[in-house]
Parts: sequence; structure tokens; C-alpha cells
Amino acid sequence: MSKIVITGATGKLGQLVVQHLLEKVPANQIAVSVRNVEKASEFADQGIEVRYGDYDDPISLEKSFTGASKLLLISTPEDDAVVRIGKHVGAIRAAKKAGVKHIIYTSFAAVDKGAFPLLGDVHSATEYTLRASGLSTTILRNAFYQEVFVNESLQSFVDNGVIVTSAGNGKVNTVERNDLALAAATVLAEEGHENKVYELASSETWNYDEFASILSDVSGKTVTHQSKSDSEVLEEMIKSGAPEGLAYFQTALYNSIANENEGNTSDDLEKLIGRKSVSIRESITNFFNKNL
Ligand SMILES: NC(=O)c1ccc[n+]([C@@H]2O[C@H](COP(=O)([O-])OP(=O)(O)OC[C@H]3O[C@@H](n4cnc5c(N)ncnc54)[C@H](OP(=O)(O)O)[C@@H]3O)[C@@H](O)[C@H]2O)c1
Repeated sequence: MSKIVITGATGKLGQLVVQHLLEKVPANQIAVSVRNVEKASEFADQGIEVRYGDYDDPISLEKSFTGASKLLLISTPEDDAVVRIGKHVGAIRAAKKAGVKHIIYTSFAAVDKGAFPLLGDVHSATEYTLRASGLSTTILRNAFYQEVFVNESLQSFVDNGVIVTSAGNGKVNTVERNDLALAAATVLAEEGHENKVYELASSETWNYDEFASILSDVSGKTVTHQSKSDSEVLEEMIKSGAPEGLAYFQTALYNSIANENEGNTSDDLEKLIGRKSVSIRESITNFFNKNL
């Protein structure tokens, strides 16, 4: 029987995709391609076929993709851009050899409009490779995960009463992983999504002044946003003990937000999931009530 095969299924996004897909198709139509088979034992318990596939081992990938009517290629978490592109290209080559009919790839929102090149360039390179492969493809251009912004750091913002960035009044588009996973599962379960590009972004954006104001409302303590220069923020982050790579990444992100590169909106996601995505206010409120 041909299967829907999912890579990265043991990761945070992949697990949510599988959960949503199980509500749409029988478990025996799903297979996961994972590098750690033991970690995927819960899938096997649910009747999903677990296959060994490692991005660093193209032969294993080819085997794990065999018989796939659709393959969800979840981008790797690799830091080095060139290595990351190489892994994606290797996976596409393996898919071709395995006779996969249709690849669905998790790209990055607004890559064609110059969004955050530190990440966008990897995804553009992968999108071009997919196009050149001649296979049927669907590109899911995922916005920034809302969880990248809504996490344990909220507590320190509340404690300090301030959020320091260099993002100015720039807008950013974010979406919860769960909404992106539902969209991916919808594309995997339905027909008619071949050769489409979906911008899986919110129809609404936010800036850090609004973020601070929501956090004040939710916590009952005043939190303000203070925007400084990139170099000041970078210096402060490094002085406070943040790893250098993270500090550079974070400052580059603030810079991109300040330069209005991250505020593109779309209604593609709403159309796919049949509702609005979870707003930043809802995410902050839910996180605060559950964790803080
Ligand atoms: N849009 C955004 O804001 C954003 C933010 C962060 C990341 N991302 C991208 O979105 C992807 C999925 O996000 P996530 O939150 O689910 O990340 P995650 O939780 O780190 O999951 C990454 C998945 O990739 C698998 N993986 C890593 N190296 C592999 C290899 N060599 N061979 C096979 N599988 C391998 C991991 O397997 P194990 O479980 O065995 O480790 C895991 O299943 C990330 O990988 C990254 O490319 C996007």
C-alpha cells in the first residue's frame, strides 16, 4: 500500500502533524522516517509504520521513502547553512530514486520577499532544488513559530518590567506550531495541492510595543518595550552570558524586524485550516496561565 511518509516526526512540529493526520486518514496509511526508531515507538503503538531514515545516510532515506505517494520533508534543524542545504538536496535526491510522487516541504514565510536571509537562503535553495527535481511539490512557507517568542523568557520580562530589543516598531508575523501542523496535515490528507506555494502566515502581525502591552495586561505588572541600537543589544546580550551565536542571530532578527522584512501577511493558512490562527494575545495568555 502506498503511504504518506513524514520526516522529522519525532520533533515538535512533526509530532503535531502526525496527531492531526491521524484524525484525517487511517494509521496504516502513514509511515514516519526517523533517525531514532526507539523515540518513535509511540507511533508504532498507534499502528503507524516506523522506518529508519537519517538525513546523514542517503541510502536509509531512500529506503524509508519507498512507496510514498506523498512525502512531508520537514527541514532539518542543522545550524550550518551549507550543510543544511546539502541534507535537503540529499533527501530530494533520495525521494526521486525512491519513486516518490509528491514532496511537501516546510519552507520559510516570504522567502521570495527577502525575509530573514539567515534562514531564508537555505529554504530558497531547497525550493529551487525541488523545482529543478521535476517532482510534484507543495511548498509550505511556515512563519516564525510563535513559541520562539512566547516561552520562559516572559517571566524575566515581567520581573524586569522591560523588554529590550533593537526591533523598533517593526512588525513580525508569527504562528503557533500547532496551526502550521494542522495545515500540513490538511495538505497531506487532501488532493489538489500539487505545485502550490502556501504562505502559512497569520493575517495579523505584531510589534514589540504591542507584545509588552499584552504582557502587562496578562501579568498585571507594567512591562515596557525599549528599543536600542543593534550594537548595544548585542553587547548587552554577550555581557549577560548569552552564547555569541545566539546573540548575533537574535540581533539579526531584530534588525530584520526593524527593517520591515518580517511583517508580510497572508490568508493562505486561514483558508487551509478553516479558521484564524491563534493570536499572539491568546498564546501569551495561555502560556502565562499554564506556566508562570
Ligand atoms: N519557523 C520557525 O520559526 C522555525 C523555528 C525553529 C526551527 N524551524 C525549522 O522547522 C523544523 C521543525 O521544527 P521543530 O520545532 O519540529 O524542530 P525539532 O523539534 O528540533 O525537530 C527536528 C526534527 O528533525 C529530526 N532530525 C534532526 N537531524 C536529523 C537527521 N540527521 N536525520 C533525520 N532526522 C533528523 C529530529 O530528530 P530527533 O528527534 O531524532 O532529534 C527531529 O525529529 C526544524 O528542523 C527547523 O528546520 C523553524
